Parts: sequence; structure tokens; C-alpha cells
Amino acid sequence: MKFSLKRMVSVAFLAFALVNLVGCGEGTNTPSTPLTASTVSSNPPTNLVDSHTHSVSIPFSDLGGGKTVNYRSSVTSGHSHVIALSAGQLADLYNGLRVQVVSTPAADGHAHLWNILGGQIVYESICYNCHSNDKRGVSQMNSSQPPLQSQKNALQSPPTQPLSSAVSATPDPNFGTTAQTLTITTPSLTGAVVGTFHSQSLSATGGTSPYVWSITGYHPAWLALSAGGVISGTPTATDTGNYTLTVKVTDSATPAATASGSFTLGVTAVAPAIDGAALYASYCAGCHGALAGSRKRGKSAAQITSALATVPDMSGISLTAAQIQAVATALYP
Ligand code: HEC
Ligand code: HEC
Repeated sequence: MKFSLKRMVSVAFLAFALVNLVGCGEGTNTPSTPLTASTVSSNPPTNLVDSHTHSVSIPFSDLGGGKTVNYRSSVTSGHSHVIALSAGQLADLYNGLRVQVVSTPAADGHAHLWNILGGQIVYESICYNCHSNDKRGVSQMNSSQPPLQSQKNALQSPPTQPLSSAVSATPDPNFGTTAQTLTITTPSLTGAVVGTFHSQSLSATGGTSPYVWSITGYHPAWLALSAGGVISGTPTATDTGNYTLTVKVTDSATPAATASGSFTLGVTAVAPAIDGAALYASYCAGCHGALAGSRKRGKSAAQITSALATVPDMSGISLTAAQIQAVATALYP
């Protein structure tokens, strides 16, 4: 055979040398396909036996975009989720911090926590396209690369970086599905209590934000709806009963789209009992599992209050003392 091993080796060497010449230079290992995005994965759900995960791709161009961005995840176990990163969280990722977000729930209610490592994103957006994976875990190439000390720390150990405290964003459950028609997403109104200031934000999705809200038709004198969608007011003793409110939301597109919704608003003389199980389902189950099998069964109101104040993952949750007590009661074995 004329094609000797020696010859094959020298051809391979030539190809290698060429890649290095047109690449970044000596000491680098330019990847054949440059990255334009980082692929990050979710944790498995905490409340399912089916321990699947999902991934999303975060384009590097989103890191400095200055706006909230939604991402629809890969499909695993027959479904996908949406996560949202706020402008502040995207900036913190680029600075090397960790960001934790919770996805939209799937049809069975389970959601995923995403622990996104800024150190991984710094490496992939700054270093990978010259070095492939060769320099992962190395803090820096020289004093200017990467520019920030927090990025240098993050390159060495992405999982141990501080958690971002940037305001989070609410993921849009319709993102990345079909054309997004303007829809009111508030399912129902919470009841008001005589003599107690009542306030609730209405929400919509789709169309073009910002939205402008208004009440069409009758509404009781004590109640107002701001253009931003906040219902507020304090009912008096003569205001008890059920009202039907018809609201309209208009988007900023030209021509504008509108959506209307009718809601029942109840006004009672005394506060109704708080549904701790429902609060648990909407505020806690996504991370700690369904109520029946919750890993937090038996936790007291004091322990929950302290966790809310000290556990970074729980810092976004705002509950009144009475609501925390109701959750603790629901968790009582
Ligand atoms: C534009 C291409 C380019 C980028 C971007 C780049 N490097 Fe380099 N890097 C090089 C070149 C070329 C060398 C070898 C020449 C030298 O050492 O001066 C090198 C050398 C190094 C070295 C020292 C040599 C060694 O083998 O230990 C380390 C460590 C390193 N880079 C890490 C990084 C890290 C971490 C990043 C991202 C923050 C990064 N580099 C970004 C081109 C790049
Ligand atoms: C975004 C995820 C997340 C959400 C939502 C969440 N937690 Fe936590 N929680 C954590 C993490 C992470 C810890 C720390 C690790 C641990 O103890 O499980 C924690 C710790 C706790 C602790 C303290 C540790 C212990 O076992 O005594 C309590 C109590 C607790 N959570 C209760 C709740 C309750 C009640 C809710 C709903 C109001 C809630 N959590 C919502 C993530 C979350």
C-alpha cells in the first residue's frame, strides 16, 4: 500500500497547522463551528418520578440587549416549558453571576428550577471560539481577557459564584407557540373585604405591550382600574355583594388589538378563610413538590418566615403573615 501511515499523519498535521494559522494563533484550538449561543439545562422537577430535564439556548446577542427575553425549552417527556430572563439577569450572567429562574408549569403542574451559570456563559461567549473547551476552569488569558474580576472568578468555578439579585421576569406561557393574540390572563378576581384596601393587578399576554386597561360598563363607585391594569379601592359596609366587572385591554400595535373579559368581584363583610393548600400549590409546589408529598411537611410558620427571609431562591415570594400561617396549617401532617 502506497498510502503509508506516515503520509496520513503528515496530512493530518498539515490540516491541523492550517486551522491554527487561520484561527487565533499558537496555543489555541479554534472549534470548527463557532458558538453563537450557550445551551443551558434545567434541574429535574422536584415533584415527579419522571426525572427529565430540558434545555434552552441563550444567544450571546441577548446578553447586552437590555430587555426581558423569553425562551421556550426543548421538548422532553412530550412537553416544553418557557423561562424568562430579565435585562438585569442577562447582564448578571455576562458578569459571571448565577441566575435561578422557575419555568412555566407543564399541563400536570410541574415546573423546573434553572440554575444558570454565568461562568459557563462567559467562557462560551469570550473564550470558546479561540480555545474550544481547552481552557475551561482557567481564570484568564491575560490581564485584559476577560475584562471584569467577577468574570475571572466565574471562569474558575462557575457553580460557586454569587446568586444574582436582579429583579426576575414572568415567563410568557404562550411564547414560541402560535401567533400571539392579545388575551387577558387573569383567571379570576380575589374577593374584597369591607373597610380593607383592595388591590389586584390584571395581566394580559400577546399583542404588543404596553397595554392600556379600562372598565367598560358599570362599576361600583369605590373601585377604580388604572390604565396600567390595577384594580383598587376600599369598599364600605354598604358595598357588600357580587359585582360583574367588564374590562378591556388595548395593546400598542397599529391598528390596536383589544381583548375583553368579564369578572365577578365579591365584597364580603369579613375576610374569608385563606386557602393554604391553594397558596402552597401556586407558591411552593414548583420547588418543593405537591402538597401531599412535600419535603416541607410539618414546617411551622416561623420556619417558613425565616426561609423566606434567608433562602435566596425564595426571595421573590411575598406572602402576608396570615397567608404563611395558612400554608403552615396546610403543611401540618
Ligand atoms: C482571539 C482569540 C482568543 C481569545 C478570545 C482568548 N484567547 Fe486565550 N489565548 C489565545 C492565544 C493566541 C494564546 C496563545 C498565545 C499566548 O499565550 O500569548 C492564548 C493563551 C491562553 C492561555 C495561556 C496559555 C496556556 O496554555 O495556558 C490561557 C490560560 C488562555 N488563553 C485562556 C483564555 C481564556 C480563559 C479566555 C476567555 C476569557 C481566552 N483565553 C480568550 C487566544 C485567545
Ligand atoms: C424557587 C424555588 C423555591 C420556592 C418557590 C420555594 N422554596 Fe422553599 N426552599 C428552596 C430552597 C432551594 C431551599 C433550601 C434547600 C432546602 O432546604 O430544601 C428552601 C428552603 C425552605 C425551607 C427551610 C428549610 C427547611 O426545610 O426548614 C422552608 C421551611 C421552605 N423552603 C418552605 C417553602 C414554602 C412554604 C414555600 C412556598 C411559600 C417555598 N419554600 C417556596 C426553594 C424554594
